[in-house]
Amino acid sequence: MKALKILVTGANGFLGRSLLGLEGEAEWVGCGRRVDAGDMLYHRVELTDRAAVAALVAETNPDWVINTAAMTNVDRCEEDVSAARWANVEIVENLAAACGDTGVGLMQISTDYVFDGESGPYAEEAGTKPLSCYGQLKLESERLLQGLERAVVVRTLWLYGYVPETGANFTTWLLQAVSGGESVRVFDDQWGNPTYVYDLARALVGLCREEARGLFHMGGATFMTRHELALELARFFDLDDGLIQPVRTQEAGLLAVRPLRSGLRTDALEAVLGRRPLTFSEGLERLARDPHFCRDFPEFAR
Ligand SMILES: NC(=O)c1ccc[n+]([C@@H]2O[C@H](COP(=O)([O-])OP(=O)(O)OC[C@H]3O[C@@H](n4cnc5c(N)ncnc54)[C@H](OP(=O)(O)O)[C@@H]3O)[C@@H](O)[C@H]2O)c1
Repeated sequence: MKALKILVTGANGFLGRSLLGLEGEAEWVGCGRRVDAGDMLYHRVELTDRAAVAALVAETNPDWVINTAAMTNVDRCEEDVSAARWANVEIVENLAAACGDTGVGLMQISTDYVFDGESGPYAEEAGTKPLSCYGQLKLESERLLQGLERAVVVRTLWLYGYVPETGANFTTWLLQAVSGGESVRVFDDQWGNPTYVYDLARALVGLCREEARGLFHMGGATFMTRHELALELARFFDLDDGLIQPVRTQEAGLLAVRPLRSGLRTDALEAVLGRRPLTFSEGLERLARDPHFCRDFPEFAR
């Protein structure tokens, strides 16, 4: 079987790096803003530059582009709407134009923040109602793919796992804090289904391979609150779960409104890929055996 060639934008980000780490699953090409991107085949590109994006797609000539580039700090999006629009909408417009002109497939990664969190978990056909600037812009980005012949939107949520050199994330923050004896407060009124980042990455490649079209939800198989997630993580790694305290979202005074009772149903994705996503405990098992995690967090290795 001929390997797919996949261009990944946001190559220095959490999901982007996890995709590029799936050796043998595709012929990978990465692009991002920073110079340092490991030893992968890498292009340094500012994706808000339409001509540069068109040149990149023409030069690399991939089967698919997976766009993981985005401004993902939801509170910062409220503060700097124009930067948020550049990163979350204009980049997608540029990619859609380049892919539309060349027949290259475009996969856009979106979020459960397109929903209001009144009645999750949500199926793909559920009505959207974003509560935040981030959610609104991501919904706009989804719509930019509507005219394309080969296009997929994948909404996901609550990514966890360990990907080296991508900065702190919820998993590493929690492990470091609790193992250091620090007490942490975690929301007990936000519901969702945590997604192991490499499980998502594999699902994305699977959708490319299947030449899927349209909208899919991808999240883990366990629905829980963030507080339950933190407790399970702590117990799995034999840490003191008494350090994990519940807190209400409202008490935190965050800028962006969060969807509370969220979650994404994955039946459509399962029908295409013929498998279900990992449960949270299965994801933790994978994490504890991940070679990079074991190297950088030997005290938690299994
Ligand atoms: N993480 C989650 O829990 C989660 C949940 C739901 C949906 N998602 C979606 O999943 C996708 C990937 O998320 P992630 O967590 O991997 O994000 P991330 O770690 O923040 O990575 C995003 C990447 O986008 C790049 N980027 C931003 N603006 C750019 C620009 N103008 N030109 C070029 N690159 C630019 C950033 O580059 P720099 O490194 O140079 O800043 C960064 O590497 C996003 O679409 C996000 O909305 C994530």
